[in-house]
Amino acid sequence: MTVSQSIVHVINHLDRDYLRQALEHDVGVGLTASPKWLPPKWFYDATGSELFSRITRLPEYYPTRRELSILRTRAVDLAADSGADTLVELGSGTSEKTVLLLDALAHAGTLRTYTPVDVDAVTLESAAGRVAGRYPGLAVRAVCADFERHLALLPRTGRRMVAFLGGTIGNLEPGVRSVFLKELRATLRPGDTFLLGADLIKDTGRLVAAYDDAAGVTAAFNRNVLRVVNRELDADFDAEAFEHVAVYDERHDWIEMRLRAVRDMRVWVGAIGLGVDFTAGEEMRTEISAKFRQEGLRRELAAAGFRVRRSYTDPDDDFTLVLAEA
Ligand code: SAH
Ligand code: AVI
Repeated sequence: MTVSQSIVHVINHLDRDYLRQALEHDVGVGLTASPKWLPPKWFYDATGSELFSRITRLPEYYPTRRELSILRTRAVDLAADSGADTLVELGSGTSEKTVLLLDALAHAGTLRTYTPVDVDAVTLESAAGRVAGRYPGLAVRAVCADFERHLALLPRTGRRMVAFLGGTIGNLEPGVRSVFLKELRATLRPGDTFLLGADLIKDTGRLVAAYDDAAGVTAAFNRNVLRVVNRELDADFDAEAFEHVAVYDERHDWIEMRLRAVRDMRVWVGAIGLGVDFTAGEEMRTEISAKFRQEGLRRELAAAGFRVRRSYTDPDDDFTLVLAEA
């Protein structure tokens, strides 16, 4: 008797040189801008991904639970409607929620390949191994890549469902988001679908609490970007000299996470020979997390050439999952 085994392949588009150059570029641009900023993708080394996992279990952080509740009731319909044999997941992290989709696709009898895509190689590989262990016969092709730059390099075989869960779309600035959606649309073929999870606009108090939890886990996640820059670019940020700030910007409908310098200081970024001065109280933006209205999301998808096939929310209308086609 032959036992069908899952095979895990890892494709890496982010070797150390690439990562270092990209980080040097972003730090060089962001820390010389006024106001200063850093892109959120650099939160996610192994420690940052672990902190994000802890965030998903916090009482204040509702998005993961809400998205899970939608998946619990709708994954079977989504799987059947998509007819996908290949699940490509952008920003897959630990792939915890994905299991619901994979179960539904496996149950429908179509599932062949899972392609998780993430910048964090450590979390990606361990998630890929876990998924492979759960689904004998499934080909797991993990791709370590930046979805802002490498969409065109992702495998295009099979009838694909491209999933982008968790509300990570909201971490992209509007202009970048529009380019991302158009580029993704250009990679889809007839029969492929796009499953998008997005956080919805709600009471400001709940939003701010979700990004400023009482246990301080989000604060540690926020400061982690400084530790990444210290380690990778030989910088000397004193992470404890920065306070975590989360504010809701009602003009843009997004949460902004910032790090506020508690004193005047000069930070040296050795790898690029850059000295950066902070004044006490100065705030540096480290993340936006945009919140959506259903109509706005539909409009953005339509502008990129997508048609919404199905759209679901949880009973509290906190979060939405949208299945779209090109
Ligand atoms: N999808 C999971 C994880 C969300 S956290 C969930 O819904 O819970 C965001 C994930 O996206 C992290 O795993 C992070 O490493 C990854 N990520 C962030 N920016 C990325 C980028 N530009 N390219 C690829 N992965 C990225
Ligand atoms: C990954 N992303 C959707 C999270 C969010 O809610 O914007 C990242 C996060 N930042 C702080 N808490 C969680």
